Amino acid sequence: MRGTRLRGQRIALRPMARSDADALDRILRDRRVTRFLPPVVRRESGGQFVRRVLDDQQRGNGVAFVIVPRAEPKAVGQIRLFHWSRETRDAELGYWIRRSEWGQGWATEAVRLACGYGFRSMRLHRIEALVLDGNAASARVLEKAGFHREGRSRQSERVSRGWVDELRFGLLRGELKSETDA
Ligand SMILES: CC(C)(COP(=O)(O)OP(=O)(O)OC[C@H]1O[C@@H](n2cnc3c(N)ncnc32)[C@H](O)[C@@H]1OP(=O)(O)O)[C@@H](O)C(=O)NCCC(=O)NCCS
Repeated sequence: MRGTRLRGQRIALRPMARSDADALDRILRDRRVTRFLPPVVRRESGGQFVRRVLDDQQRGNGVAFVIVPRAEPKAVGQIRLFHWSRETRDAELGYWIRRSEWGQGWATEAVRLACGYGFRSMRLHRIEALVLDGNAASARVLEKAGFHREGRSRQSERVSRGWVDELRFGLLRGELKSETDA
């Protein structure tokens, strides 16, 4: 399943393409972006990331978008639903944005658009997100979109500063908050 273009107020989500590799590569070279991401992503180039994600999408395991500002067509980040199970109707959410664009509400808008798509078009019942302890910006983005913090897996990720806990967030169908609810 390939996503369709989703329009928000300030950004749009467009289906990820192989041609996005260079733009995403420049973002992934920034340690401030990758330090809270899973080890596999920290090691990848943009090309490797796009190939892996699109192969995964091709196998039916998820749907991937790039985040583009309404004003210009260039990818400034990505958001995807992956680990999709049609049986349990759930999937995991992952996203990142270019450092220079942080703090404008774009991730929150992207999360709302992607989750809306997940509930509507993928018929999901539940969306999950895993956040490394200390990633306050990401936790805040999820809370603004209506996610509940559900649990803590102790020392489940290894980063350069040692073992870090992972926080589990969940959003059920009907719980997604729009900008006006927030
Ligand atoms: C997490 C990330 C996607 C957020 O993107 P963004 O576009 O800046 O997010 P938004 O502007 O929509 O919202 C950020 C919120 O976090 C808050 N915030 C930012 N830094 C914070 C901090 N250090 N402590 C507490 N809150 C913080 C902002 O104030 C804002 O909340 P507000 O609207 O209530 O003021 C971006 O920082 C990023 O790409 N980080 C690196 C990759 C990453 O961590 N991905 C998620 C992995 S789970």
